[in-house]
Amino acid sequence: MTRHFLNDLDLSPEELGQVLNLAHWMRDHPYAVKALGGPQTAAVIFDKTSTRTRVSFSAGIAALGGNPLVINPGEAQLGHKESISDTARVLARQVSLIVWRTYAQTDLEEMAQYSRVPVINSLSDDYHPCQLLADLLTVRDHLGELRGKTLTYLGDAANNMANSYLLAGVNAGMDVRIAGPEGHLPSEEVIRAAEERAAITGGRVTVTTDAGAALEKAHVVATDTWVSMGQEQEEAQRREIFGRYQLNADAMAKAADDAVVLHCLPAYRGAEITSEVIDGPHSVVWDEAENRLHVQKALIAWLLVESERADEETVRTVRQAMSA
Ligand code: CP
Repeated sequence: MTRHFLNDLDLSPEELGQVLNLAHWMRDHPYAVKALGGPQTAAVIFDKTSTRTRVSFSAGIAALGGNPLVINPGEAQLGHKESISDTARVLARQVSLIVWRTYAQTDLEEMAQYSRVPVINSLSDDYHPCQLLADLLTVRDHLGELRGKTLTYLGDAANNMANSYLLAGVNAGMDVRIAGPEGHLPSEEVIRAAEERAAITGGRVTVTTDAGAALEKAHVVATDTWVSMGQEQEEAQRREIFGRYQLNADAMAKAADDAVVLHCLPAYRGAEITSEVIDGPHSVVWDEAENRLHVQKALIAWLLVESERADEETVRTVRQAMSA
């Protein structure tokens, strides 16, 4: 069966641990796994702008022995001249992997439905699951354990990052607290999915408008832009709405003394996060950005192995590394 990675819960708790272990090992052995040797081509499609995702997938696919074919916004027939299902069937005959940054989650689901090669969500309006793999690896690097740690997210709590923090955090057994203003909180559907997974992992879900309560002794504090792609016209209004959820020194004073700060970047300094915090001693955002590369390489190798699309040597190396 072909495995895809469309949202954070597409990996079971055990599989999430395997991918993080593999990423840790592959970071120390950056060219040891040639899961895309040949070179095989991976299509990396962007309907939105990107720096980290573009570079980390391109560099990572090359390091796996493959050829990254980056398709920029507007360059393909996809979305205007050709249906998603037809595009999926054609790409799957020509490439070994499809990575897609787009708008609607349902479009990614359709791509996966018609693709016989793995499809990876590299950001949709609803989720950013590759970012969360990097975030969890970074937290594990700095705090040692994920299970039982408190992860607080402040700001636009209805966006893709808030959804992914909630789902990926509970998948790792964390106590996840999402804080944002009324009307900008996760949907009932996302909260329900998080609660169901938390019941399995021992994680916890809190959704609140009270930033102070959410921050109390938090081990991890995260935020994201208040103005996601497509919301640029609402910038002034949104700065007003989210102002009291800024990640600043006062907010950090409520968190645990050794708390780490995450931001997926790009950051709007002086808006959702102050320079004092992002450049301060709690910040691990540059490690987080680097880990996109390592964890996505691990994800690709893992998906190819689990989809029975990897050679014997890759299967052996990956299985040894992920159980380490
Ligand atoms: N964090 C992230 O996805 O960055 P880019 O939008 O630059 O890819």
